[in-house]
Amino acid sequence: MTERSLVIIKPDGFARGNTGEVLRRIETKGYTLVAMKILTATREMLAAHYAEHEGKPFYEPLVEFMSSGPVAAVVIEGDGCIKGFRSLAGATNPTEAAPGSIRGDLARDWGEKVQKNVVHGSDSPESAAREIGIWFPEL
Ligand code: RTP
Ligand code: MG
Repeated sequence: MTERSLVIIKPDGFARGNTGEVLRRIETKGYTLVAMKILTATREMLAAHYAEHEGKPFYEPLVEFMSSGPVAAVVIEGDGCIKGFRSLAGATNPTEAAPGSIRGDLARDWGEKVQKNVVHGSDSPESAAREIGIWFPEL
């Protein structure tokens, strides 16, 4: 099977109507949409998803932000799509994200305890498999 990644259009991006724009960029790049759902994440899902960040100063604001409203969760597929989508997304800090990237074009710093940066993308094959299991247990 070719590579898969979990992409999330976060509550900020979903609320601002950026879902279509993010999907357009993924499809234009040539990756395939495999599965997609709109849901509001529970704290339990987010505790599993963000286990690596537990204890960091932005952890609690991050869980609060990510459970604040609906998100679009998407499984994408294509050779190299994990690294490729991270490149489309741009740097974590939207102020530093390059113009042309999703975060560079669609996100900014709002002076809050957590960076609201429109999208999540898995960062390794291990993370992708783990995260897809949390968000799409049916796959
Ligand atoms: P993601 O997991 O969402 O794809 O983003 P990432 O790998 O680029 O960043 P990561 O280090 O995994 O952090 C997860 C998310 O936490 C928020 N964050 N805010 N200092 C801050 O204000 C801060 N640091 C991290 C961001 O929403 C980041 O995407
Ligand atoms: Mg990450």
